[in-house]
Amino acid sequence: MGLEHGMPRGVVDILICTQGIAQRWARSKHGFHSNLSLLVLGAGAVNLGAQTPRRPQGPPGGGPPGGGMRAGPAAGYGTRDPAAIERGKKEYVAACAFCHGTSATGGQGGPDLIRSVLVLHDRGGDQIGPVILNGRPDKGMPKLTMTPAQISDISTFLHERMLEKSNRRTYKIQDVVTGDAKAGQAYFNGAGKCYTCHSPTGDLGGVAKKYDPVTLQSRFLYPRTRTFPGMPNPGPPSKPALVTVTEPSGKALSGALAHLDDFSVSLRDSAGEYHSWRRDLIPGLKVDVKDPLAVHVELLDQYTDRDMHNMLAYLETLK
Ligand code: HEC
Ligand code: HEC
Repeated sequence: MGLEHGMPRGVVDILICTQGIAQRWARSKHGFHSNLSLLVLGAGAVNLGAQTPRRPQGPPGGGPPGGGMRAGPAAGYGTRDPAAIERGKKEYVAACAFCHGTSATGGQGGPDLIRSVLVLHDRGGDQIGPVILNGRPDKGMPKLTMTPAQISDISTFLHERMLEKSNRRTYKIQDVVTGDAKAGQAYFNGAGKCYTCHSPTGDLGGVAKKYDPVTLQSRFLYPRTRTFPGMPNPGPPSKPALVTVTEPSGKALSGALAHLDDFSVSLRDSAGEYHSWRRDLIPGLKVDVKDPLAVHVELLDQYTDRDMHNMLAYLETLK
């Protein structure tokens, strides 16, 4: 089921038309929803991101220390805690934007969450939590694995978006390919520093042919997200983070990071062999993670919505 299959340019048209039409299109033409009930997105992608040492998060699982699902009206949006909004934004982009759109105003298959009465009534995740954890598999909303703290952060982020939308007349509902390609190109070669690792004629040459716009967006926003069964055209898996584990004796082993939390670390070496250490039992153990995608995680803090849309518009010209 390739989204672009048989209707190459149509995809963009559909993405910039209203979400209702896009949903109907998805339902009728491709049975998108029925496939999505199989999804097991989430935990893996989200947690791997959370393991990168640069991501300013607390305990494994990604939530803030002591975070929990807090009922009642206070949870975050009374104070509009910027750190929670930022964390929520990352979780949202990693796990939800693919279906609900980067601005949460609806996307491919998923409804507008900013106008959702359920989200409006949510406090700290008490309404959206059950939807996320149980999904609505028959309706195309997959079941996702998330901690209460992650859910609470997403809730804070969604409420912030709602406020932005009601406070600022200027806030525009932006769908996928609505940016300014020239501005995107300038960002690519300037503030975004994309040119230091990528070339529009080299590795990114033809990237717009490789992915449909939604997938392309998720690949540059958060390249670790993206794979779940039923996802149209997901592309190859991303490069794993590399880790070097040095034992107190000085013996060092390197390989692809398989798992990292406060208690253990494991890797797969170049021969495919799996190695694991208990961090809590080996005090002098040194763990050094190099994530080739760390820059992308950092960029997430830097982009404005406009940058993201302009960047996508530019990348869409790389056919
Ligand atoms: C694979 C696509 C997909 C993903 C990924 C996804 N959703 Fe959904 N979501 C849907 C669909 C489709 C519906 C509509 C279900 C229905 O019609 O009842 C939905 C419904 C919802 C609703 C209910 C809205 C309402 O007003 O009833 C909430 C809340 C929600 N999603 C939040 C999220 C959050 C938060 C995430 C990320 C953690 C997420 N979804 C990830 C597809 C998705
Ligand atoms: C420090 C290096 C670095 C910088 C800076 C950087 N990227 Fe990347 N980017 C990567 C790496 C590494 C990958 C993963 C490639 C892989 O998985 O094979 C990647 C993946 C991508 C992909 C997915 C490519 C594909 O074929 O799946 C896109 C698109 C992309 N980056 C766009 C950007 C944009 C736009 C910027 C600037 C805003 C940027 N990158 C900045 C290193 C970087």
